[in-house]
Amino acid sequence: MTAATIFAAFHARWAEPVEQALRELLPPPAAAPARLHEAMHYALFPGGKRLRPMLALLGCEAVGGDPRAALRAAAAIECLHTYSLVHDDLPCMDDDDLRRGRPTCHKVFGEALALLAGDALLTVAFEGAASAGGAAVAALARGAGSLGMVGGQVEDLAAEGDPAGHTLARLEWIHDHKTGALITASLLVGAHAAAGPAGAPAAVTAPLGRFGDLLGRAFQIADDCLDLTGTAAELGKNPLADVALGKLTWPALVGLEPSLAAARATAAAARASAVEVGRAAAAWRGSGAAALDAAVGLLQDVADYAVERRR
Ligand code: IPE
Ligand code: IPE
Ligand code: MG
Ligand code: MG
Ligand code: MG
Repeated sequence: MTAATIFAAFHARWAEPVEQALRELLPPPAAAPARLHEAMHYALFPGGKRLRPMLALLGCEAVGGDPRAALRAAAAIECLHTYSLVHDDLPCMDDDDLRRGRPTCHKVFGEALALLAGDALLTVAFEGAASAGGAAVAALARGAGSLGMVGGQVEDLAAEGDPAGHTLARLEWIHDHKTGALITASLLVGAHAAAGPAGAPAAVTAPLGRFGDLLGRAFQIADDCLDLTGTAAELGKNPLADVALGKLTWPALVGLEPSLAAARATAAAARASAVEVGRAAAAWRGSGAAALDAAVGLLQDVADYAVERRR
């Protein structure tokens, strides 16, 4: 199979189990208060690419685990990611009216309910992550919190009003935090789910984290480029939104072509680093490196997917 088709097959295999795990984790839409649960369901279903839950399953498989062990935690991460989108779209943040091909949550349910639906999605995520053990909960909290995604969102907004402060170093910091931290956490949660109560050892989580950091960078450079090159029909969100807000993005800083090249180069670096994940996981499991070749191939394929995608 060629670029990104291996991941496409993995995605097809696990798409329905992920949806099922999401349905099981979330209270039903009719539970009181129904309006809140309807808002949570509206934000989550039918959903987007489901990349982060897939990464959790991949992280589990990459260290020799059975992805089924990570399913509930994978659903939890998608809840957390979806909360971040609901809040990201609020008028006080990016002020967007289109998400996942539909009006944003606050456009349908109002700002207060969208805020609270986000809060509840964040909270239920930790109920779900607990299924993968304490190390998984800690990894998710770190990736999502002030030293991770939330911190990155703060700096993203600060940079918006500060064009004189637009540098590549600041941009990479923002990307690593607002996007990379949760992408890395997704992989780590999966690895911890494979490991049992003690969690996966640092010898394994360190290379997996390096891979995730590169993947996150590649993914967000591509997101910045798609703001310029994608259509609303492809993206399910409004193109040129970053341009309208004066966001600090890769294309704004260096132009589109150099940004696309940077995305490809970063994906190539991620591909190379996936080999280290395979070595470390094989050593931990006491198996031959070949046993994990397929998982390494999947990680490499997802790196290609991150930059080749059109949505
Ligand atoms: C959007 O994430 C937010 C970013 C970090 C760029 P996705 O592009 O994964 O959005 P969905 O989950 O597919 O809707
Ligand atoms: C959002 O980045 C990252 C999050 C933590 C949600 P963007 O603001 O670029 O995401 P989109 O383009 O709205 O999906
Ligand atoms: Mg934003
Ligand atoms: Mg946004
Ligand atoms: Mg964006």
